[in-house]
Parts: sequence; structure tokens; C-alpha cells
Amino acid sequence: MGKVYYVSQNVGLGLLVLAVSALATIIALSIAYDKEKAKNQGKPGDGAADSTSMPTPSTTQFTPKEPWDYYRLPGSLVPVSYDVTLWPRLEPNKDGLYIFTGNSSVVFRCVEETDLIIIHSNKLNLTTFNGHHAKLSGLGEATAPTIKKSWLVVKTEYLVVQLSNRLAVGATYVLHTEFLGELADNLEGFYRSEYVEDGVKKVVATSQMQATYARKTFPCFDEPAMKALFNIIIIHNQGTVALSNGREIDSVIEGVPVKVTTFEPTERMSTYLLAFIVSDFVSIQSNQNNNLLIRIWARKKAIDDRQGEYALNVTGPILQFYERYYNAAYPLSKSDQVALPDFNAGAMENWGLVTYRETALLYDPVLSSTGNKERVTSVISHELAHMWFGNLVTLKWWNDLWLNEGFASYVEYLGADYAEPTWNMKDQIVLYDMQKVFAVDALASSHPLSRKEDEVNEPAQISEMFNTISYSKATTLFFKTISFKFLTPPFPCKFISALSLQAYLNTFAFGNTVYTDLWDHLQQAVENTPEIFIPDSVHNIMNRWTLQMGFPVVTIDTRTGRITQKHFLLDPDSVVDRPSQFNYTWFVPIKWMKSGMEQQQYWLLQKTVSGDGWVLANTNVSGYFRVNYDPDNWNRLLSLLSTNHQVIVNRAQIIDDAFNLARAKIINTTLALRTTKYLSKERDYIPWESALRNLDYYILMFDRTEVYGALQAYLKKQIQPLFEHFKTITANWTKIPQGHTDQYNQINAIGIACSMGVKGCRELIKSWYRQWMENPVHNPILANLKSTVYCSAIAFGGVEEWDFAWTMFQNATLASEASRLRSAMACTKVPWLLNRYLEYTLDPTKIRKQDATSTVQYIARNVVGMPLAWNFVRARWSYIFQQYGKGSFSFSNLISGITRRFSTEFELQELKKFKEDNVHVGFGSATLALEQSIEKTTANIKWVTENKASVLKWFTEEST
Ligand SMILES: *[C@@H]1O[C@H](CO)[C@@H](O)[C@H](O)[C@H]1NC(C)=O
Ligand SMILES: *[C@@H]1O[C@H](CO)[C@@H](O)[C@H](O)[C@H]1NC(C)=O
Ligand SMILES: *[C@@H]1O[C@H](CO)[C@@H](O)[C@H](O)[C@H]1NC(C)=O
Ligand SMILES: *[C@@H]1O[C@H](CO)[C@@H](O)[C@H](O)[C@H]1NC(C)=O
Ligand SMILES: [Zn+2]
Repeated sequence: MGKVYYVSQNVGLGLLVLAVSALATIIALSIAYDKEKAKNQGKPGDGAADSTSMPTPSTTQFTPKEPWDYYRLPGSLVPVSYDVTLWPRLEPNKDGLYIFTGNSSVVFRCVEETDLIIIHSNKLNLTTFNGHHAKLSGLGEATAPTIKKSWLVVKTEYLVVQLSNRLAVGATYVLHTEFLGELADNLEGFYRSEYVEDGVKKVVATSQMQATYARKTFPCFDEPAMKALFNIIIIHNQGTVALSNGREIDSVIEGVPVKVTTFEPTERMSTYLLAFIVSDFVSIQSNQNNNLLIRIWARKKAIDDRQGEYALNVTGPILQFYERYYNAAYPLSKSDQVALPDFNAGAMENWGLVTYRETALLYDPVLSSTGNKERVTSVISHELAHMWFGNLVTLKWWNDLWLNEGFASYVEYLGADYAEPTWNMKDQIVLYDMQKVFAVDALASSHPLSRKEDEVNEPAQISEMFNTISYSKATTLFFKTISFKFLTPPFPCKFISALSLQAYLNTFAFGNTVYTDLWDHLQQAVENTPEIFIPDSVHNIMNRWTLQMGFPVVTIDTRTGRITQKHFLLDPDSVVDRPSQFNYTWFVPIKWMKSGMEQQQYWLLQKTVSGDGWVLANTNVSGYFRVNYDPDNWNRLLSLLSTNHQVIVNRAQIIDDAFNLARAKIINTTLALRTTKYLSKERDYIPWESALRNLDYYILMFDRTEVYGALQAYLKKQIQPLFEHFKTITANWTKIPQGHTDQYNQINAIGIACSMGVKGCRELIKSWYRQWMENPVHNPILANLKSTVYCSAIAFGGVEEWDFAWTMFQNATLASEASRLRSAMACTKVPWLLNRYLEYTLDPTKIRKQDATSTVQYIARNVVGMPLAWNFVRARWSYIFQQYGKGSFSFSNLISGITRRFSTEFELQELKKFKEDNVHVGFGSATLALEQSIEKTTANIKWVTENKASVLKWFTEEST
């Protein structure tokens, strides 16, 4: 998918609210994730949360005996093509149920003798023919054996057809089925989305097949390597439009009420990339790219408001960029992108018919913020990257998902950079991928990027592959390897890596691969280029990063000249019970500088450094490791920060490393805090954001204790100059800063300043919100500042401010505006308002199902809301689990979100009890998140005990 939401979190906003008063409240700003990450969310002003889920080990103990007991297809039959007709009904039937009907004929070849046809089918009511669920015929010379019996296997989601005789190897057969399914509103398979326009309820039929839901739409060989051609026909009401992967070639009116739309045959493709949509959406289009038809579809009102224009503007250029980058033409005849009112992931890269949440595709030049715009660009860029990498060439099985997603998440920066060259998108990889995955991959419970094929079988295990490690660790690795950042000289290598990538795509077009195929092509490129030096083969270097979990901390001791590496673990007392064949050592490419001079890059263990100038390593942050120094060098770096911080190019990383080394007890906590002392002089966004994210942990741990007062006083002092700086350059908050990231930094400045109590800030915000309340049709708040202002105003206000936001939320016609208001309403400090809001999350007419779990997380982010959300979730666990526990990708974040602040023995006991009490209900895709929460709470308790006194002392001394 698109990205699973990458969610990064908007710490600025979080801090803002956190700090809003002595009582302190918080905001949660963000959330979301999904399969396709929706990265970018975490820009200040938008908010998003963090996805830290990881695969859960299988809990089911069951020994397969029969071929249909296995989750993987036997492979004896291979599909060639399908003819599928689908007819979704957009009105309920007499039982009040929404349904679809259809039929499918799959042509398949027998490659191994068998008397069984095993094909996926889930939750479909199949019509019987002479008592059997299907009809079989032979194609050409082949005669089909008769069907002896047929049955459905619920557990492994199969239709099994037992034949009286064996199928012949090499022969081709046709299996015909007719079926009826429910068009449920559960965001999976062929499903229903509803919205209201001009007071009228509209129903849309749409689909989400990844990873294992095509089988809920029609019986099919539902594995990514089972590629086939698809001939699709959709029957739909007049006045609606039907879309699918191919271009519509014919649409005829049949009888009075319905139209029959036929689509051109697809290319050879995987079932998880199919898509079907019937709606009354309208589109805008362009034909700029060599007559390639590019369309953006959405609700009529959104298109009339020109919210699709920006997406249309960037799609053509991004496709052109990829055609050159991959050196391969866009493989299809059209590119449709559709904004859906209900969508679980951020977006999904269905081939030729990409689906999005509205917030990931629609942009309003007046009402949307810069963060909204960046998200649209990045998500489109990510999805379009998949049209080649993922769709044209597909991984054989889900265990290699990381290659697909990591690659798309890496090149999305290149595509977005091409579309918006002034944004310096590539600089943000550090914040949005690297630091994010560092946090998860430093736990003893992390897991290697690459899993064995036979470790990933059941649908729930497949869902769990869509996690931070798969997306962000792989992205970070690609940033290093595909861009050959670690090789010198950089320029020709970049070119070579592009060539090897092109060769890879060419070799495997319309087929499937495993990840080592890509390493083979890179190795080839290295061998053809004598100038490149690498210390071992591409396979051997990469295996250490992909087959063992975690990453190293590299320690540079300038006193002895020694450089060493060690597996970095956030909790030094944690036990790694996963042995590694590489003993947790890596080939580490080190770029470094000495006294301001770039030094020759080298591979760790080859060389030593010495001398007394200051040494700085991982200068362009191209390596996936942390760096520690001897105390003298740390002091040299700190003094450089206070006198001439610009010299240190990777300030954001120094801060992040220091805080994390302190968490791991490798350096003193006060040394980490000292890296923030120079911030009163910092004007750049990335170092500020990095510091705020790290201080966020201190806020979460201490916002219910006396440390918070001193912390607030310190941050107030540090942020004041930044607040004044933006006040000046924006002519008293009337203009927008020029630079892309300066706009984000302004949002942080105002948000933190208000919550830390900088003079004048709160009044400013209250007056803006008040003006809007007085004249709701005219919102005077600058789009970029809306999230911050709404949240603060609601936090400072009462029921009147909240109810106004609720009204505006219900009336919002722009999804990103609705989403800002939804997160801001969680900022109130009034308990009954928070409880009422929690109840709203269970009512889909108030809060959409896709938004329910993220809303609970926003509330939990608020220090007042946290215990309320925890009680709410505990009390209704079995209901919540039923509703969201199966297919929702954000589900695991519910537990991690609520427990983030847990740091007392009492909370740990509550968590353990919750686990015991609900064993019979289960935790589904949140299973590992629950384990991690227990691990993290234990670590938090220890950390607070050990650090509280010195942190209080430090903030107290530094705030005066
Ligand atoms: C499928 O059949 C079952 C059993 O007859 C029935 O309960 C169910 O409602 C049917 N599904 C639909 C969508 O009609
Ligand atoms: C799209 O491009 C057109 C033509 O360059 C431009 O006038 C318009 O402002 C752009 N729209 C957006 C939302 O960027
Ligand atoms: C790992 O350590 C073991 C025991 O010390 C050693 O035999 C083995 O060669 C090491 N493997 C690697 C890859 O360094
Ligand atoms: C950390 O630094 C503080 C202040 O310099 C000092 O008092 C404390 O003993 C140090 N702690 C450790 C564990 O070194
Ligand atoms: Zn993706």
C-alpha cells in the first residue's frame, strides 16, 4: 500500500498542548497509519501518530494435514486469465443488507497432476450447480473430470473442489462460479462507503484488496505470484460511473435501470492490485503525457471546489520523472486516482486506479496547509512509484514486503523533490524515516527486516508485515544503498545504481522476484565499475542489515583513536534472545569530518582516527547507525554548538543520538539535555523538530510531576527568541514565511510558545478563534496555523469553543479541515467533554469508522484524556476488538498510543491485568504492541526512578 501511514508525530503540537497549562493537557495530534503509510503526516500543524507495530509470532497451534489446511496454495494450478462480472447494489435489499452479485470464470493451467482444485474464497455465498459450488470445463483438447464434491474451508479461506479424476499436466481448464457477497462498510474487499452531499446520503462501492481481500470479492488464486489477465465487467445504475484497473472501453444501457461497463483487459497482474469502484464521483483530467489519460476523481463538491487540481498538476510530472528514472514507459493506458470518504490506509497503489483517503489526494489552495500539500505530493509520489516497483515487478511473497515498501518510500522523496524542487524533501528522510525506525529497532523485541517465506502465512501475519520496520528501515537502507551514498565517488555510482535498477525492472517485468534478485543486479553494477570499492559483496554487506535486527552505535574515542561498534539497545538491561549469525556486527560506512574538513570516507575497522581537533561522524546522515564519542570530543562538539552551531551540519542527528544514548545509559542524561542549550540560537526546523521530539519523552514522563514546571520554564526561555523571530519576519503574524520548512518551524514556534506561556501568545490565539466564532463563514486563521490554533483555543476554552468546533467539523467539506478539527477537539481539558467525545467514536454517524481508533489516540495523548481513554478501551475491549481488531492497520497503535505515558508500577500492573482479563477475547494485530507496551512501561519506570532528580535539578538550574 501506500504508505502505511507513516505517521510521524507532530511533536510540536503535542508539546503545545501538553504544556498548555499547569494542569497540562495534551494533544494528540496525529495518528494514523495504515498500510500504505501516509507519511508525512506529521508535519507540524497536521499531526499523525506513530506506528510501531511489528509482526506477532503466530499464536495458532495447529498441524496441517490436508492440502487445504495450509495457508499457501499448493501451486499445482496456475491462473492464466479471469472473466469477472460484478454488480454492486447501492440500495439495501429487503433485509436491509447491501450486497453485490457476480460471476467469474478463471482459466488455469495444470502444472502438477492433481484431483483437487484449491482456490481462495472468503465470505462469498456461492451458487450451487447440481449440488457443487462451481462448474468445470476443459479448454481446447482438454476434457474436464467431473466434480465429485466441493466444500468451503473457513479457516484457510478456500473453496475446495474434489474431482473424480486427475487434471492433466499442461492442460487448461475453466472454473466457473456465481456468487453473492455483502457490500459491508468494513473497508475490506469490495465494500461500501457513504457520504452526505447537500443533505442526501450517497453510497459508493469501492475496494481494498491488499493483502488478502480479493478472495472476498470473487474466488481467485489470491497470492501475489499468481499473476493473470483480468477481463472485468461492472453492472451499475445509470447516473453512476464504474472504474477499474483498465480503461473503460464500452458502456451500454441494458434494460431500463442499469449500464454495463466493460474494461480493457488488464496486463498480467496480481490480485491484490485489482480495484473496482462505482460512484457518482466526477473527475478532472489531462492528456499531457503522450496521450496518457490522467484523471482525478472525487465527490462532486470537492471537484467543484477545485480540490483535485493540485493532484492533477503534480501527477503528470511525477510520472514523467519515474519514466526517466526507471527508463521504462508507464505500463498502462490510463492513470486514475480517486479520493474516498472512507478508506483505511493512507492510499493504495491499485494498478491504474489508485485509491486515497481524501486528505492524501485533495488540496485546497486557500484552506489547506503547507503540511497538507506536502502530504498530497508525497503520497502521490509513493503510489506512483509502485506502478513500476511493486506492480510491474512484484515480490513473490509478503515476507519481502519491506523491499516493495522501502523502495517506494525512498523514491517517493525523489519524485516529490522533482515535483516541488524548492522543498528540499530529501533532508526530511532523517526526521520522517530514520529517527522513527531507530526508536523501534533499538528494542530487544525488534525483528529482522527480512523474514523467511514460511514464517509469514496467515492473513494476520501478512497484515503485520505493514509496519515501521518494513517501511522506514528499508527506506533508510535504500537511501544508503540505492543512492550509493556510501560509495565514492558518488556521482557515477548514482548513475550505475539507476542502470542496475533498470536492468532489474526489465528482467522481471510482469513477473515476480525475491529481494536477492535486486542485490544481484547491484553486484553486477559494482563489478562492472572498477572505481567502486566495497569491502565485501553486496549480498554480504546487505545481509547484515536485513537478516539481523537492530543497528550499531559506533563509538569514536579521539583519545586512543579507536573506533568500535556495538549493537544499540535502548534498554541496556534488556535481553536479546534472538541470536544472530553475524553476532550483531555490521559493515559500517563512515563519513566524517575533522576540525571542519571532510575526511576520506572509510569502512569501519579499517582505520583509526586520532588528534585533538573535534571529530564529527555520519556527517550527511547517510548511515543507519548512531554515533558516540569520548567525553572530550563531546565537550568540543557542545562548545562548537554554543559558539558556531552552523558548522555542525548534522545537528538534528547529534541531538537525537545524544538523547538516545542517554536513554541507553551510554552517556549521562545531562549531556543529552546540554545539546538543547544552544537552541535559543537555532532557527532551522529540522534540529528544532528533532529536539522537540526527544523532549516529548520528558514531557510524557513528567507532565504529572513537579519536574514539569521547571521543564516548562526552560523551554519557554529557549523558544522565546524563535517566537519573536517569526513574529518579526511575518510582520506580526500576517504573512507566511518563505521557506518550506520555515513554515513548519513557525508552527512549532507558536505552538510551543503558547503552551509554555510565552507572553502574548495565548491572547493572540484566543482572539483569532473568537473572531472565527463570531463570524463562522469567514475563518481568519492562516491555514498553516489552524491545527495549533484550534487545539490551543479548545484547550484554553470550554464547552462553547468545543461545540463550535464540532459544528464546523460536521460542516467541513474539506477532509483535511475535518481532520484538524477532529484532533483539536481532543485538546480540551474538560473531562466530561472528553468522555462524550470518546462515546462519539463508537457512533459511525458521528466519527467515521476509519477515524475511530485514531480519535481515541488523540484523546489519550491529552494528559487529562489519557486515563479516560484507558478506562474506555478496557471497559469495551471485546466490542472494540470485534469492530477494529481484524483489518485495521491502526489498531495496534491504539494500545501503544494509550500507554505511552505509563511509567508507574501501578500502571504496569493494570496493563498486565488487562492482558490477563482479555486473553479469551484476544488482541489480534495489537498482540505485539501489547508486549511492547509492557516492555516500555517497565523501562519507563526504571528511567524515571533513575533520572527524575537530576532532570529536575538540571531544568531548575538552566531555567533561571
Ligand atoms: C449467505 O448465506 C447465509 C446462509 O444462508 C446467510 O445467512 C447470509 O445472509 C448470506 N449472505 C448474504 C450477503 O446474503
Ligand atoms: C495547477 O497548475 C495551473 C497551471 O500551471 C496553475 O494555474 C494552478 O494554480 C495550479 N493549481 C494548484 C492548486 O497548484
Ligand atoms: C560470531 O562469533 C562466533 C563465536 O565467537 C564466531 O565463531 C563466528 O565466526 C562469528 N561470526 C561472525 C560473522 O563474525
Ligand atoms: C551526570 O552528570 C551530573 C552532572 O554533571 C553528575 O552529577 C552525575 O553524577 C552524572 N551521572 C553519571 C551517572 O555519570
Ligand atoms: Zn507503498
